[in-house]
Amino acid sequence: MAARKATQNIKARATRGAGRLRGRGRVRATVHVALGERSYDVELGDDWLETIGRRAADKLGAERVAIVTVPSVARRYAPLLTKGLAARGAKVDRIVVPDGDATKNLKQLGLLYDRFLEHGMDRSSGVVTLGGGVAGDLGGFAAASFLRGIPFVQVPTTVLAMVDASIGGKTGVNLAQGKNLVGAFHQPKGVFLDMATLRSLPRRERAAGAAELIKHAAIWDASLFDWLEPRIEAFLDLDPKVVLPALERSCAIKGEVVERDEREGGLRKLLNFGHTLGHAIEKHARYRGILHGEAVAIGMVFAAQRSEELGFAPAGTRARLQAVLERAGLPTRVPNRPRSAYLSAIAVDKKKQGGKIHFVVLEGIGKSSTVALTPREILPAGWRA
Ligand SMILES: NC(=O)c1ccc[n+]([C@@H]2O[C@H](COP(=O)([O-])OP(=O)(O)OC[C@H]3O[C@@H](n4cnc5c(N)ncnc54)[C@H](O)[C@@H]3O)[C@@H](O)[C@H]2O)c1
Ligand SMILES: [Zn+2]
Repeated sequence: MAARKATQNIKARATRGAGRLRGRGRVRATVHVALGERSYDVELGDDWLETIGRRAADKLGAERVAIVTVPSVARRYAPLLTKGLAARGAKVDRIVVPDGDATKNLKQLGLLYDRFLEHGMDRSSGVVTLGGGVAGDLGGFAAASFLRGIPFVQVPTTVLAMVDASIGGKTGVNLAQGKNLVGAFHQPKGVFLDMATLRSLPRRERAAGAAELIKHAAIWDASLFDWLEPRIEAFLDLDPKVVLPALERSCAIKGEVVERDEREGGLRKLLNFGHTLGHAIEKHARYRGILHGEAVAIGMVFAAQRSEELGFAPAGTRARLQAVLERAGLPTRVPNRPRSAYLSAIAVDKKKQGGKIHFVVLEGIGKSSTVALTPREILPAGWRA
């Protein structure tokens, strides 16, 4: 429901925001994620980190709090957040882990537990993750597992983490054998977005996150797609009239999908649109030189093309999706490698999914479903990158 309601409010919000000065210290929009006793709010604001600190402390109700963050984010944003937490009496330990996806590993996890214990944390303590999906996944999993689980709050600072990684309770780390192979579902007590933090985020990272936002629109919400299509540049330029409603609606979609399928039984698989080939591309690039959202952009164009060829989507679907991704500066062409290379990479996904690949197809812009296909059906004979 949340997504639909947000859809109706979109125009009103955009106009209301227009005449405003930058909002300091207060919530500008809230998305509720209804999961029974695990329910929480995603609260969006602008330039309100200190307030976030206070609100996070209230949600956690903890005397001792660890902030898990990465260097560039820590320097810029941890002081105000810490000030807010401390204002509520929390004793704060700031734990800065190295930047990059490789940090999501068991060694860093072990180091986090050590720091938690040194800080005197117990079952009544809490964690705040501050950063992109790496800080969120690692810090979230530390919270999920320390003393069998302590509460945590997410403060995502990348577009990707805001619209995707911070919502839904998936936490975890990578193993040498593959990404995200160890983890747990652990819903946060709250998610707080400060749009002002996006100003320091490189444009390329903004675009990569926008790929997931475009994905949400493409699989779920045609009216969001219609609205975003002419505004994608304004989004990347961080025009507040566009950023607030776009983030709000994208969070609402992710929240709604998670509400209806918390543990990825079915519906949540739709969020994998573009990820079958996307993961294969990332794997072949050894996760270097290409960002996750960029690989997903290429994967979405491919999947939209296949959706047309398989008779699920009307002609023109792929072209429309490709155009908006290209205007966001995202790559859309599959890197030139033999079909066999992609087939074997996709086969790994097949193993993870128990024999079949749940390939996500579009039925047009704003509507999607999954079909069980073999790697050879996904990449038919004669297919070329
Ligand atoms: N849990 C989930 O449901 C879920 C979903 C999608 C992705 N993920 C995970 O998320 C991770 C990717 O997340 P990401 O794209 O946010 O990557 P990231 O956390 O590595 O952040 C990207 C880069 O931006 C920097 N950064 C972050 N915020 C900044 C800011 N405000 N200003 C300047 N620099 C900033 C970081 O230091 C990093 O260099 C992957 O590990 C992926 O597996 C998890
Ligand atoms: Zn993704």
